[in-house]
Amino acid sequence: MQRLTNKRILLGITGGIAAYKSAELTRAYKAAGADVRVVMTPAAREFITPLTLQALSGNPVHTALLDPEAEAGMGHIELAKWADLIVVAPASADFIARLESGMANDLLSTLCLASDAPLCLAPAMNQAMWRSTATQGNVFQLLQNKVTFWGPDSGEQACGDVGPGRMLEPNAIAELSATMFDKQLLSGKIVHITAGPTREPIDPVRYISNHSSGKMGYALAQAAQEAGANVKLISGPVNLECPDRVSRIKVESAEQMLAAVLDDIANCDIFIGCAAVADYRPAVIENNKMKKGSSDTLSLALVKNPDIIATVGQLPDKPFTLGFAAETQNVVEYARTKLASKNLDMIAANDVSNSDIGFNSDENALTLISQNSELKLAQTSKTKLAQQLIEHIAEQLTSA
Ligand code: PMT
Repeated sequence: MQRLTNKRILLGITGGIAAYKSAELTRAYKAAGADVRVVMTPAAREFITPLTLQALSGNPVHTALLDPEAEAGMGHIELAKWADLIVVAPASADFIARLESGMANDLLSTLCLASDAPLCLAPAMNQAMWRSTATQGNVFQLLQNKVTFWGPDSGEQACGDVGPGRMLEPNAIAELSATMFDKQLLSGKIVHITAGPTREPIDPVRYISNHSSGKMGYALAQAAQEAGANVKLISGPVNLECPDRVSRIKVESAEQMLAAVLDDIANCDIFIGCAAVADYRPAVIENNKMKKGSSDTLSLALVKNPDIIATVGQLPDKPFTLGFAAETQNVVEYARTKLASKNLDMIAANDVSNSDIGFNSDENALTLISQNSELKLAQTSKTKLAQQLIEHIAEQLTSA
């Protein structure tokens, strides 16, 4: 159930004997790598204690709408926005009825109303209550409103009746929860991305660098994360917030970036080299600040930096590798040369002679080149372009 890794699941528990199975469901979510927050109705607490769910989820359990202490931790609107998926298991007849009528008279119903996350219900109730016209009418209406129902199962019930109304088993609910993320293009993939400039020190106060802001690489990290990937961002010095749920490693020089890239490259499925890595660094880093001399000129000896993406390209079991080529002339031709010389699967050619795009702008335009194809991606925001690039990478991976 890799698809649940890092997913934020809000598990609602309502009053019913099946509430004890929610403990097992919480464990299954945690075992699949999901982050779980549990919300209990007052009736649910008659069947299982918040302490049990707190211990299993590793998070405080939310029980009341107007609890100042809980609101100070994570307010109910914040919680509604936090969730990638809301699962109510068990969902009682009463809760289904309140949900259908749009009521917000407790924390769980309020969250369901306030959240844009997909909502899935695993009903559990007496078979006659499930079959009643009222419940069936509510279920029909909620299905029209895009609420998903899982179950109920049929069989012997706690009250001794036999029929439909048993909650699905926790593992089945966890599996179904994972399928809610199926559409994600890079689900379960591990993606490493370099971004920003490198800084090559001359002395304790000076360095050689370039104008890369990191915007393109950070947008790619966010797009890959949103496509379901596990993303590591190896970033040179930039003034950007790390995208949500992306793990960032900060580096300065090309040599540090190379070391961070090679650290666990064996686990990487897709490598994207978006950083503007300095091709050269000063041969000697002075220990003390260099003093201004009497001469009008100063020569600085430079040595070649390691080529990070070419090093990845040479690995025996290399990941799918996408490079960028920042060029001011013969853009596509030079990019093609880099595609071959660095042994890349794809390269995104960037015309950086146009100051509206490329370095430090909010927009970009690219030509995406692979051995047998060439595709122009028109000028748009780096966010949108990053989403397009991720779609093309996913397409290439599935067709390979
Ligand atoms: O950060 P932004 O302000 O948003 O700007 C985005 C960008 C213009 C920096 C980005 O879109 C881009 O084009 N990045 C690559 C810049 C670059 O260094 O291009 P290059 O043609 O010099 O390098 C070709 C490829 O080799 C790149 O994937 C680069 O990361 C890689 N490289 C280069 C040198 C080196 N020593 N090691 C490398 O891995």
